[in-house]
Amino acid sequence: MSAEQPQTVCAKCAGSLYVRYDLRPMRGEAGQAQVLRDASPGERAARETQNGNSALPSAWAGMWRYRSVLPDVEPVTLGEGWTPVIRSRRYKNVVVKEEGANPTGSFKARGLALAATMAKHYGLKKLAVPSAGNAAGALAAYAAAAGMEANIFMPKDVPFANYVEAKMYGANVTLVDGLISDCGRMVAERKEKEGWFDISTLKEPFRIEGKKTMGYELVEQLGWEYPAAVFYPTGGGVGLIGMWKAFAELEELGWVAPGKRPKMIAVQSAGCAPVVRAFDENAKVSQMWENAATFASGLRVPKPYGDYIMLEILKDSGGVALAFSDGVILESLRDWAKNEGIFLSPEGAAATAAYDHLLKTGFLKAQDRVVLFNTGAGLKYTDVTAEAAGILRPS
Ligand SMILES: Cc1ncc(COP(=O)(O)O)c(C=O)c1O
Repeated sequence: MSAEQPQTVCAKCAGSLYVRYDLRPMRGEAGQAQVLRDASPGERAARETQNGNSALPSAWAGMWRYRSVLPDVEPVTLGEGWTPVIRSRRYKNVVVKEEGANPTGSFKARGLALAATMAKHYGLKKLAVPSAGNAAGALAAYAAAAGMEANIFMPKDVPFANYVEAKMYGANVTLVDGLISDCGRMVAERKEKEGWFDISTLKEPFRIEGKKTMGYELVEQLGWEYPAAVFYPTGGGVGLIGMWKAFAELEELGWVAPGKRPKMIAVQSAGCAPVVRAFDENAKVSQMWENAATFASGLRVPKPYGDYIMLEILKDSGGVALAFSDGVILESLRDWAKNEGIFLSPEGAAATAAYDHLLKTGFLKAQDRVVLFNTGAGLKYTDVTAEAAGILRPS
């Protein structure tokens, strides 16, 4: 299929499409050195002065340092990617990948920066997305930056920040009395008539492509080596799928020190754990999770479109899928805030809870190097976290 025009899903099987490149010119140390050179501040400054736009966010900074393995088009960027890895003060071999540092406060910025970049490149004007919350804020921001229309459908009880940001960015927002699956149905029903391009999770190829940069980054930030395990709070699973693609590319490029790929650990909430249930039952796909409910709003995805891909990755990597109650997630959130100074999102706290669990069970050892993804900033969730923790504003 051609990348010259917008693509959705596979016409034959409705599966998700991957972007493929000829990676041969970038192989080996020379290719890797080129990426580092292009991303170096001196090189960037020279390039920007040349282009006369030094006041703009660098199109070679952040996740765009990997431009040589991304589509060759002009980026719509707000400075996403190259997020910090924060070493835990208590666990010597644990780092937290702080995705809350992205524009719009979550890792969704990566996928939607790239999806918006390509939408602009194709000349699309009207985009639509069903969202658990953070994708809505991110699409609204990048659509605003690119001068496109964003049509957003999200559950009415998303964290308030998601609603406020989408409104302020000028998106058309519909709050739905239901879940992201209901929102997805609404987009599907209306998109043709309204002329919207559907940016739903895994229904166009570029959100995966943006999120794959998390895989490149974590390997580079760990000195071009794989960790033993990656903990990923899983809803639709785009990041998990994107990182796995990154690892395959890194190996093809010869940029990663040979070794075993990380065990991928998918973490969900016990209030919505379709991937965990399918993994435990050794099933190939998940079944719709009824009455999904959790304060980790990004994990409220009752039937992920790419469940079959995730389940395969979990198995191939020797990983697991785990779910924790909101109570356990909240305790982990409190623990990391109090003892590490890191205010996790509820989704990120599901990952830290999972680490504690796997250390206890012996699945992982203290000497195993691991990356825990805090996929969003805790500060986006003050309303839902306050409610869960019983924190009231003093009257
Ligand atoms: C903070 C946060 N973490 C995790 C997820 C799940 O992400 P994915 O759909 O890529 O699995 C979401 C999705 O909305 C999210 O907002």
